[in-house]
Amino acid sequence: MVRSAFTALALLAVCHAVGAAPTAEVVTPSFSFADWVEGIIANPQGDHLTPEQAIEAFNASRNSTSSSEHTKRGPLDKRVPSCNEQPNTEVPIADAVACVNFLAAKGQTACVCNGFAQFCQIGQGIIDGNSGSKRTTSACNDVARAGGLILDHCTRADNTVQGSEFAYGNGDMLVRIHNLR
Ligand SMILES: *[C@@H]1O[C@H](CO)[C@@H](O)[C@H](O)[C@H]1NC(C)=O
Ligand SMILES: *[C@@H]1O[C@H](CO)[C@@H](O)[C@H](O)[C@H]1NC(C)=O
Repeated sequence: MVRSAFTALALLAVCHAVGAAPTAEVVTPSFSFADWVEGIIANPQGDHLTPEQAIEAFNASRNSTSSSEHTKRGPLDKRVPSCNEQPNTEVPIADAVACVNFLAAKGQTACVCNGFAQFCQIGQGIIDGNSGSKRTTSACNDVARAGGLILDHCTRADNTVQGSEFAYGNGDMLVRIHNLR
């Protein structure tokens, strides 16, 4: 008895000496919609959080992480989406997340925008592209990437979102999440 207890203590001491990671320290994972989109794009057939699970994870992390942490994430980390630039067109995040998921799942499918194009409508959520007088094309998953960033930066305390950001790598296509006016 005494001996084995001593052995256990000794082992603990050794573990500590070699710097084993302390297991009791829990770091609350922060959630990013942009990272979620990247996961879908990287491995389309893999197991991903459903839109509902993604919102749950977001809910769980939103109060425990600083928003500045989210601003460092995603493929367009130098960009900051414009939020709330169309007052009174915000949409419930569940609808916006469902649209982002839909577009991420389309992968390399072309999302073509000839001035204006609506890429998704689910519930009150609309994701569209705006390209002025130009015709431009992005992979739909690059539209989804912009959507993920908008969700990360523009989601409001009342669980709605509205904002715009350029499709990944395409400064000609402004992607907007909003509601029908
Ligand atoms: C997330 O939180 C909001 C309120 O804070 C709640 O209305 C919503 O149902 C939650 N969603 C999920 C999927 O947990
Ligand atoms: C986060 O904080 C807000 C306001 O402080 C509160 O209304 C909401 O219920 C909290 N959400 C979670 C998931 O703790």
